[in-house]
Amino acid sequence: MSEKEIECWWDQASEYYQKEINDRFPKTVHYGPFGSDERHLKLLGDVNGKKVLELGCGGGQCAIALAKEGAICTGLDISKKQLDFARNLAEKNRVKVSFLKGSFSDLTSIKKCYYDIVLSVFSLQYAENLDSVLTQVNRILRRGGLFVFSIDHPFYIMISPDTLKVESSYYKNGKNIELERWPDGSRHKSITYIRKVSDILNSILRSGLTLEAVLEPLDLNDKIWGTGYRRKLIRKIGPTIIFKCSKK
Ligand SMILES: C[S@@+](CC[C@H](N)C(=O)[O-])C[C@H]1O[C@@H](n2cnc3c(N)ncnc32)[C@H](O)[C@@H]1O
Repeated sequence: MSEKEIECWWDQASEYYQKEINDRFPKTVHYGPFGSDERHLKLLGDVNGKKVLELGCGGGQCAIALAKEGAICTGLDISKKQLDFARNLAEKNRVKVSFLKGSFSDLTSIKKCYYDIVLSVFSLQYAENLDSVLTQVNRILRRGGLFVFSIDHPFYIMISPDTLKVESSYYKNGKNIELERWPDGSRHKSITYIRKVSDILNSILRSGLTLEAVLEPLDLNDKIWGTGYRRKLIRKIGPTIIFKCSKK
C-alpha cells in the first residue's frame, strides 16, 4: 500500500517538482541537494558504450546526461507523470533513453549480470526494504560493475531548519509519514524510510556488494534545489550522502 501512496504522491508532485528543478539542472549527473555533481566527483568513470540503469530516474535529467556521453541508458521510475516528463525531455534533447515504469523493489525481470553501472539519485529513501533492493542490484550488475546511490543524509534530517536544533531521534528508524502543505495550500501525506548510517552500510555488506567510498559533499553554489533549503543549516551539515559500491 505504501508504494502505491508514494507513486500517487509523485504523480501529484511531478509538475511542481520539475518546474522547480528542470531549468536549473546541470548537463551532468547531479547527486542531490548541495551534493555536487559528476563533473566534480567523477564516480562513474567513462560511460561511453556502457549499459546504465537509473533507479528512480524521475524527470530523466541524469539518464539523459549519461546518454549524451554515449551510455546505453535505461531509466526506471514508479511514477507515470515523472516518466512522461522524462520521455519528453529526452525527445527535446534528441537522445535515446529507454524509460520504464516499475519499482526498484522488483528487478526480477532484468537479466543477471546485465548492467555495467546502476545509479540512483535521491530515490532509495522510498525503499521499504533496502536489503532486497541492494541484493537485486548485485544480481543485475556484471562483475566489475558499479553501483552509486545518494540519499538524504541521516544526520541532516534530524535537525530542524527553523531552530537549527536536533529535533528528532537518530534512533527513530523506519517508515516516516509527514503531512506536507504545498504552495497551493493542499495537504499531502509524504512517506519515506529513515535509516541510520550503520543500517545503510550493513545493507551494503549483506547485499554482497563492496563499498568503495562514502562521500558527504557540500556544494554551497548549488542552484537547483537552492530555494527550499536554509543556508544556515546547510553550512552546518549538507543534505546529501553518497555511497559508491562495486561488484567484485
Ligand atoms: C526525489 S525524486 C529523484 C528523481 C531523480 N533521480 C532526480 O534526481 O531528480 C525520487 C524519485 O523516486 C521515484 N520512486 C519512488 N519510489 C520508487 C520505487 N519504488 N521504484 C521506482 N521509483 C521510485 C519517484 O517517482 C521519484 O521520481
